[in-house]
Amino acid sequence: MKIKRIGILTGGGDCPGLNAVIRAVVKTALRRFKIEVVGIADGYAGLVEGVMRPLQDSDVSGILHRGGTILGTSNRANPFQYAVIGEDGKMMIQDRSGEALEQMRKFGLDALVAIGGDGTLSIAKKMADLGVPVIGVPKTIDNDLDATDVTFGFDSALAVATEGVDRLHSTAESHHRAMILEVMGRYAGWIALRAGIAGGGDVILIPEIPYEIEKVCNEVKRRIHLGKRFSIVVVAEGAKPKDGEITVQRTVEGSTDPIRLGGVGQVVAGRIEKEVGIESRVVVLGHLQRGGTPTPFDRWLGTRFGVAAVELLAEERFTRMVCLRGQNIESVELEKAVSKLRRVEPQSEEVRTARSVGTCFGDE
Ligand code: F6P
Repeated sequence: MKIKRIGILTGGGDCPGLNAVIRAVVKTALRRFKIEVVGIADGYAGLVEGVMRPLQDSDVSGILHRGGTILGTSNRANPFQYAVIGEDGKMMIQDRSGEALEQMRKFGLDALVAIGGDGTLSIAKKMADLGVPVIGVPKTIDNDLDATDVTFGFDSALAVATEGVDRLHSTAESHHRAMILEVMGRYAGWIALRAGIAGGGDVILIPEIPYEIEKVCNEVKRRIHLGKRFSIVVVAEGAKPKDGEITVQRTVEGSTDPIRLGGVGQVVAGRIEKEVGIESRVVVLGHLQRGGTPTPFDRWLGTRFGVAAVELLAEERFTRMVCLRGQNIESVELEKAVSKLRRVEPQSEEVRTARSVGTCFGDE
């Protein structure tokens, strides 16, 4: 089967570097392989509803440094469980995958490039099971996909989070406060761990190492006794106490990932203030981590991923996801790509490194 026309979509939460992938896919497809590219709006929603348009070189010119995605995205639209509002105003879930296939026929799409995290790529795998030639491209600031050493978007989020730690240091020191920085990452602690190490956080709390609040408070007290009258705590949104639960901020009906985490920073701050008697403040970095200009690394990785995705399509090596292994761009079966989350290993060299320089994880 000679691929002549492909669709490209971005699904799930946005992240810096998406436009670098889109640009690389369009330029490579048009220049090297004479393959036409159709941009699908708002993730799988555009596929089901048939909202798409051909992309030319001029459409992707000048977008490399731009955050977000020129295509739009959705973290709710799933063709297999499509949320629609019924006449009674209530939400209903329908299987609209047949319509997605029909739209692909209508727009003459021979294959799909799906750029997303585990939710988007799991749906891509289901599309492949229906016979659609698919290539996945891994994105997420959380860096939680096991099949790639790193996802693009992570480096940009890390830069923002590290700057956050840096900026909190001076105000924490001036006011003799505990400053708690809550960062994203879902069920993985990569952003908190790396920003904590890079920024010199005194305490790092991550989902993979359940904490005891008494131990966190002891560390803050220990520092006060040493004359360090401030502390910086970097807490991942998915961090949880040893005998407790993660803090859920809200649920999102109809989403492939209905649970939104958030609020643990406030919990930790409240306890530190009460137990230690030091004034504590919380900063929730939130979507600032996902917005804005991608770092050079994320543009570089996104570009390499985009080129590799088109090469796989041209070679007719379908149902695969591009990935980074060491310094090399490789690919892995889509099935394997979405089957395992990549989380921080508590015994890893990285965690030991942090402990070596005196970082407290609230467990010892
Ligand atoms: O997966 C990326 C991510 O930013 C997570 O770190 C965070 O938990 C979630 O998405 C936030 O989602 P939303 O944009 O729907 O609030």
